[in-house]
Amino acid sequence: MNILSKPEYEEKLAQTRDARMGWWRKAKFGMFIHIGLYSQLGRNEWARAFENIPKDEYEKLADNFMLKEGCCREWAKLAKSAGMKYMVLTTRHHEGFSLWDSKVNPFNSVNYGCKRDIVKEFVEACREYGLGIGFYSSLMDWHHEDGYKCAYDNEARRRFLDYIEALNVELLSNYGKIDILWYDVANPMQSWEGWDSLERNQRLRELQPDIIINDRSRLDEDFGTPEGHVTAGNRDWEACMTFNDISWGYLDDKLTIPYAYTAQRIARMLFTCSQGNGNLLLNIGPGPDGSIPQDAIEPLTKIGEWLKLHEEVFYTQKSYLGGRWAWPNGGSGTCSACSSVDLRHVYLWNWILPHDGKIALGGYKTSPKSIKIVSTGEELPFRFDEENQRILISGMVNGDKILGITMLDVEFENPPEYHPFSKYPQLNGGRM
Ligand code: GLC
Repeated sequence: MNILSKPEYEEKLAQTRDARMGWWRKAKFGMFIHIGLYSQLGRNEWARAFENIPKDEYEKLADNFMLKEGCCREWAKLAKSAGMKYMVLTTRHHEGFSLWDSKVNPFNSVNYGCKRDIVKEFVEACREYGLGIGFYSSLMDWHHEDGYKCAYDNEARRRFLDYIEALNVELLSNYGKIDILWYDVANPMQSWEGWDSLERNQRLRELQPDIIINDRSRLDEDFGTPEGHVTAGNRDWEACMTFNDISWGYLDDKLTIPYAYTAQRIARMLFTCSQGNGNLLLNIGPGPDGSIPQDAIEPLTKIGEWLKLHEEVFYTQKSYLGGRWAWPNGGSGTCSACSSVDLRHVYLWNWILPHDGKIALGGYKTSPKSIKIVSTGEELPFRFDEENQRILISGMVNGDKILGITMLDVEFENPPEYHPFSKYPQLNGGRM
């Protein structure tokens, strides 16, 4: 195979990116699944490293890796009902245990524990529920004997990189069409050259021409991955967040309850994704037998019900990077605004229901045509105060019985002219 130089490769990727990423950009919301031997410990997926657990002691966990039958379908079913459109599974985390029938890594779930190919079950479940399929694949490996030596010993590095490639070749050859390759933690080598990422990724893409790859093999590839915060980037991005903010792997329920996300908090994250053209990959860490943690079920189900009522808006919405209409409080201290592909619409996500039913939106120089509650279609009365460049909405009610976040569709004849400070430049230090 003819290996392209980095600029040539990047140019080629750029040419096919819109076609390859189209589904993902619309998908907006995915489920991340962290499951592995660490799930039995119920502390953190880094437990082996944090606690210096000796190799032989850690390996014993493999015999007890007992996922219940049908757990992958349960994850997929919940993802689907949460309004998520794809899933990413930790096929092998840093601990080095493969969840598939690997020929190159005998330390796997077919040789130990439940003796099943979990990756295969996962792929089947995703297909059954119509979800995109993503494989998380750690680059760092605490189990392989060259996993550290590769940093300073060239022969070890060659062996280790062959191993990493062979693992990914298995994953991308044996399970049909795969949508996402989600690398993680490119340690100990500190450069893409050190990881041979340019060569390996080109070869892997030959196996899955439509695949999208994240930015964690020390190459930019297709999308950025802010972790633990939802922050817009200036390229395709996907924020990964974990349900309890503390651990990706399973945490004992008693510990996680105080930290679990509410559906409202998930909605806030989805808002930021909407506004900044990004995706949310929300993680759950199933328990040792693959059960979904209790405290994830209710918020995910709720957000799914809510998204169903806002489907039209949420999955088609595309605001400009930097949020052209994104005056954080919509002028009233209660809402945030996103524009849509169709710039005649501004969508307001209303976070606090005003007691008097009144909302004022500052900075609009033209009057809307109508203002409607998205979930019910109910029209709200409003008045346009041209002199002060304000839209004054009245009769605002809680139109959202699920989350109490009433979304408004503010429709204009033409894309509105908007500038929050144009009328009152003194608010912006005199700048326009
Ligand atoms: C971090 C952690 C890892 C987790 C990942 C998810 O890089 O090392 O445990 O899987 O983030 O993004």
